[in-house]
Amino acid sequence: MTPMTPLTPMTDLNCIQPRRRVLQMPEYHPPLGNRDSLRLDFNENTLACSPAVLAAIQSITAADLTRYPERGPVEALAAQHLGLASEQVILTNGVDEAIHILCQAFLDTGDELLLPVPTYTMYEIYAAQTDATIIRVQAPADFRFPFESLVAAITPRTKLIAIANPNSPTGSVATRQQLLAVAAAAPHAILLVDEAYFHFYGQTVIDLVGQVPNLIVARTFSKAYGLASLRLGLLAGPEPLLRFVRRVLSPYSVNHVALVALTAALQDETYLHWYVEEVLQARALFLHALTRLGLQYWPTEANFVLVNIGAAHKEFANAMRAEGILVRDRSADPGCEGLVRITIGTPEQMQRAVAAIENFVLNQLKVFSS
Ligand SMILES: Cc1ncc(COP(=O)(O)O)c(C=O)c1O
Repeated sequence: MTPMTPLTPMTDLNCIQPRRRVLQMPEYHPPLGNRDSLRLDFNENTLACSPAVLAAIQSITAADLTRYPERGPVEALAAQHLGLASEQVILTNGVDEAIHILCQAFLDTGDELLLPVPTYTMYEIYAAQTDATIIRVQAPADFRFPFESLVAAITPRTKLIAIANPNSPTGSVATRQQLLAVAAAAPHAILLVDEAYFHFYGQTVIDLVGQVPNLIVARTFSKAYGLASLRLGLLAGPEPLLRFVRRVLSPYSVNHVALVALTAALQDETYLHWYVEEVLQARALFLHALTRLGLQYWPTEANFVLVNIGAAHKEFANAMRAEGILVRDRSADPGCEGLVRITIGTPEQMQRAVAAIENFVLNQLKVFSS
C-alpha cells in the first residue's frame, strides 16, 4: 500500500483563528455528569413526563425517522393552545436556541443587551457571540426585580432586554405593570420575557403578544412538562418581528421525536396540572422546613429556591451529593456568594432533601461547638 499523500500542504492550525469574540469566550460546561441521583440541580421535572407522551414516542416508526421533521403543523397547534396565530409562534430547540436566534437576528455592533443580574446564564453566552455590549443591572440584596435601575439603564442603543420571569436563580418576579412599563420605556428595543417557570407562577404576559409591539415571550417544555432531553421551547411574538427570527432559524432544529412528544404533551393538561400541584405542595413544605432549620432563603415563585448556606456552600453541595442529592452552588453568580439553588420536586423527594439538610446543619453545629 502506498502512503496517502496529503491533498494540501500541512496547515498550521494556529493560523486559523475564530472571530475575535469567540476567541475571548470560555467553553461553558454545566455539570451534567454523574446525575443518577435525586436531581435538584437543574430545575427539571424531577419525576417523569406524561405517560401519554412516552406512548406517543413509542409509536414512532423506523420509516418516520427517515424524513426531515416538519415543524409547521405542530407550531400551529402550539399557537392555538396559547390562543395565538401560527405566525406569532416559533418552535425552537429549547429556549436556549430561541435566545440564540434572537441574538443572531437583532444584536448588531453598537447595540446593547440589557440584563437584570443575577439571571439565566445563556443570555450572556449568546450575546457574547455578537458584537453587542452587555449591560448588567444588579438586583438589590433582597433580589427584588430591579425595576427602577433597569429602566434608568435604557439607552438609545438598547436593543434587547431579557427578563426571566420568574427569574433564575432567585425565583423573584417582575409584575405585569413593571414589564409593561419596561416595554413602554424602550419602544426601540425587544423585551424578551422568558417564562420558563410560568407553570409554577401562574401569571403571564403572553396574552399581550401582538398588542405590545416589542414584546416577545419565551416558554420551555423542559421544566413542568418534563421534556428537557428533547429540547423544546418556543417564542411567541408579533409576526413582523418573528419573520426576522425565522430567517436565522434552521428549518430542522426541532426533531420529529420532539414534535410527536409536544403534540401529546399539549393534549395532556391533567398530567401537567398534577405535577405542578405536587411541586407547589412540596414548595410550601420545603420552605417551612428551611425556616425551621434557621436557613435564610428568598421568596420564590418557581420550582426552586435560593438558600443562603454561607461560607460552607461547597461542603454543603458535597455533603448533599454524598446523600445522593444534587443541588447547584450559585456562588459564582453576581451577588450570590454562599448561595445554593435547590430545585423543588415532589413532597416525598423534598422530605428526603430536608433530612439531608438537617443532617448537614446538625453536623455543622457540632463542628462549631467542639
Ligand atoms: C430562565 C430560563 N430560561 C430558559 C432555560 C432553558 O430552557 P430550555 O431547556 O428550553 O433551553 C432555563 C433553564 O434552566 C432557564 O432557567
